Amino acid sequence: MTASFRGCFVPEVTMKGVVIFMSSVWSSPNPLLFGRGRAAEIGAELRKLGCKKALVVYDKGVADAGIADKVISAIESGGVAAVRFDKVQADPPDWSAEEAGTLGVSEGVDCVVGVGGGSSLDTAKAAKLLITNPPPLKRYYGRDGVVTKPSVPLILLPTTAGTGSECTPGGVITDTERGIKTNIAGVGCAVTLGIVDPELTFGLPKSVTASTGMDALCHCIESYTSARANPFSEVAGREGIRLVAEYLIRACDDGSDAEAREGMMKASSLGGIAMSGALCHLSHDIGRSLGAKFHVPHGNGCAACLPQVLEAVVHVKTEQVLYFAKCFGSAPPDGASPAEIGRAAYTAALGLMGRIGLPNMKQLGLDRAALLAAVPDEVVMQCEMAAKAGFVTSPIPVTKELIANIVSRAYDEN
Ligand SMILES: [Fe+2]
Repeated sequence: MTASFRGCFVPEVTMKGVVIFMSSVWSSPNPLLFGRGRAAEIGAELRKLGCKKALVVYDKGVADAGIADKVISAIESGGVAAVRFDKVQADPPDWSAEEAGTLGVSEGVDCVVGVGGGSSLDTAKAAKLLITNPPPLKRYYGRDGVVTKPSVPLILLPTTAGTGSECTPGGVITDTERGIKTNIAGVGCAVTLGIVDPELTFGLPKSVTASTGMDALCHCIESYTSARANPFSEVAGREGIRLVAEYLIRACDDGSDAEAREGMMKASSLGGIAMSGALCHLSHDIGRSLGAKFHVPHGNGCAACLPQVLEAVVHVKTEQVLYFAKCFGSAPPDGASPAEIGRAAYTAALGLMGRIGLPNMKQLGLDRAALLAAVPDEVVMQCEMAAKAGFVTSPIPVTKELIANIVSRAYDEN
């Protein structure tokens, strides 16, 4: 069984006519079972892993939709007992993840199952981590240099087409002491198996389909244009962008369109694969700040500035931004300048957001001055911290002026 790995691939990259060499990270995801109806296989999969008692992690929405009962019934039909943790919070705070882990330890579970959107899947990752690694969770914040002990098997079933968390090596947790979103990663929270069943998304309302779909799109285009992009992430990112262009509007218009739901699930998992090594950059950096400081839902926050981010990076990622524009039917004429290509992609992204009814920052009730007072400082601070740890993802230098320009334009224009 594979997990994420760090290779020492040394590709040749031509930039301004000069061949340079750089190292990159290729992440090979855990196995995924993909297809309609495959959630029913979870009991058998747990039994294959030798599990007898599962901590099942989900939120109220998943319970209300009847999905938790359906999954738990499938678990129990495999002869595995289920312990429910149904209190997952949005933008999962550390204390909530610790509650889930504590329940798992006190109940003596031997596996964890996460069912839901990104918050549920990330809480499940943290719960798995804490079963063999003592709390508090803050001891394990960070992507690299944090040593964690292996833990029990973890199976994730996404119920939205957006997060891609079922095939990423880490999770995002809100550090409530510092009021920021941070990462957990390492062998202690590694995914054992993802079960990606498009039928679990059939009942999603249009607003959630739209915001989570934009999250998937941001994973794909940001990893495709990341400073850490590599041929592996590029293949996954390109195909994910194509799938979103083909299916997101259809899935929003008709939630029972099985082909569109399946296409978006593929895009979501490909986004997770793409970003596992390449990581995301400016749209997610801004989105994380909007989530932590202003409680904007993740997909809405990450997409809020996407048109402006595409224009900002087009001068160094011209071919990639052109591909994005073409996928969404906004191809500029042959020989177009980078600025024209950037404008075509901007128009494409803005058109998509309008077409699927994604609320802009004004409609989300955000205050322009409050945003500008908080977001640029926060994003630059996060990028500086990441750079110190060796994770530079933005293809262009990140300054307060750049972020303020992107956010203020997005507020006024989108
Ligand atoms: Fe995301």
